[in-house]
Amino acid sequence: MIQPKSHILVIFGASGDLTYRKLIPSIWDLFEQNHLPNEFAVLGLGRTELSDSDFRIKMTEGIQNFAMRKPVSKEQLRQFADKLYYFAFNPLVPQEYNNFKAYLLKLDQQHNTQNNFIYYLATPPNLYGVVPEELAKQGLSNEDEGFKRLIIEKPFGYNLESAQKLNSQLLQFFNEEQIYRIDHYLGKETVQNLLVTRFSNSIFEPLWNRNYIHHVEITSSENIGVENRGGYYEDSGALRDMVQNHLLLLAGLVAMEPPVLINSNSIRNEIVKVFQSFRPIKVEEVEKYVVRGQYLSSVIKGKSTKGYREEKGVDPKSRTETFVAMKFFIDNWRWAGVPFYIRTGKMLPTRVTEIVIHFNKSPHHLFADDKNLCNQQNQLVIRIQPDEGLLLKFDMKVPGAGFNAQTVNMDFHYSSLSDSYLPSAYERLLLDCMQGDSTLYHRGDAVEAAWHFVDPILQAWKINPEIPVHGYPAGTWGPDVSDKLMEGENCTWRYPCKNLADDGIYCEL
Ligand code: BG6
Repeated sequence: MIQPKSHILVIFGASGDLTYRKLIPSIWDLFEQNHLPNEFAVLGLGRTELSDSDFRIKMTEGIQNFAMRKPVSKEQLRQFADKLYYFAFNPLVPQEYNNFKAYLLKLDQQHNTQNNFIYYLATPPNLYGVVPEELAKQGLSNEDEGFKRLIIEKPFGYNLESAQKLNSQLLQFFNEEQIYRIDHYLGKETVQNLLVTRFSNSIFEPLWNRNYIHHVEITSSENIGVENRGGYYEDSGALRDMVQNHLLLLAGLVAMEPPVLINSNSIRNEIVKVFQSFRPIKVEEVEKYVVRGQYLSSVIKGKSTKGYREEKGVDPKSRTETFVAMKFFIDNWRWAGVPFYIRTGKMLPTRVTEIVIHFNKSPHHLFADDKNLCNQQNQLVIRIQPDEGLLLKFDMKVPGAGFNAQTVNMDFHYSSLSDSYLPSAYERLLLDCMQGDSTLYHRGDAVEAAWHFVDPILQAWKINPEIPVHGYPAGTWGPDVSDKLMEGENCTWRYPCKNLADDGIYCEL
């Protein structure tokens, strides 16, 4: 492993939830595995007045609650906490950047971090333009001495226009190579494994095209609602929150051509080509290809649950979608004519993210089976979470007289590996940025291409209130009209369980 160079990680928005729940626990996980450089410090910035010691106490609590690797001793935790600093600061006031710079350079001297800085924007998106500009004015984006990298959280823009504007703003102050647009799905071990499964096994790749694949289905369901994020979610909705970034990325990884090398440019070039090949869904076609829904109050396991409109921060007449199902095509040589289906939603029966590759039926039906559903065999299920693994479903002969066929499962579970530690997405992504590797971060052109595809859907929903927002009771698989998107007789979505190999035994929700 390449040991990262000494540096300071500067977190803007350090008094927020992301820092407490994800960032600091992941940095701790890196520390615990000796992946951090010896000369290293974290400088948290936020408007809330906190002393170093307050910040350290709060972050230590975050580590105890959320880190993957539990601290072995108080001493070990203290050694880590000593590397954390806090500086109260209002990023909207340009004059305050002078003091911030002086403090940062003092820390740099103290820790001998050689002017290497990573800036993490864990702030509301209205600061994504201001902070880079002010950093640049202070000479803090300049790489004459030491590296300067900028990590930006989602949402990266609100639509195509705002994403383009943000990209061009950022590029005035930082180079593309310095910008790391984070999508935590790319940090998931199982998402990265898609590349290995596809490109290191010659058994799959010859079949991976329109000649053998009937359709591709991608589901990311959650069994929680919007919780305390109603205010954010009202302006976002499932399409912006999950589809534009995470789910299109999964489609990109399934559909991409083999990269020439495993490096940032080769991989990102192939992903962007897929995004650019999405067949545009025109504003007037949106109703045919996309279904939106919103969860209603319901009773789950004997407990009544709120509908979306009753959630805190949500308009009681809200038409924001908490569920999206859609069908689309990738117009290129490999995928011409193969439908891709994507589905995501809040308050569905279980939390599952998986990709299902449905291979074609055998061309001639020889054996009797008892299924009247469309092609249940010939599926490869790539489980992103939970019960991470792979499941291949195919037909076998039922023992005994005749030639009856029955679908069986062949499965691999990550949990069966002897060392099955799956690093958290943030742990992996932060380490990559520290090493200067942007392979698992989005490039600006890919983000814009994804917005380009999603924009007409947003527009159609905005200008055409006739397009229904289907209600679905919380705890169900969303509006049943989403089944109508599926082509083919008796074809429906797969209804996954928490456990990967569910069939016929038990289904844990
Ligand atoms: C985030 C969304 O990007 O992804 C959340 O903003 C969603 O609404 C989350 O809950 C899902 O991530 P994961 O890793 O739990 O699938």
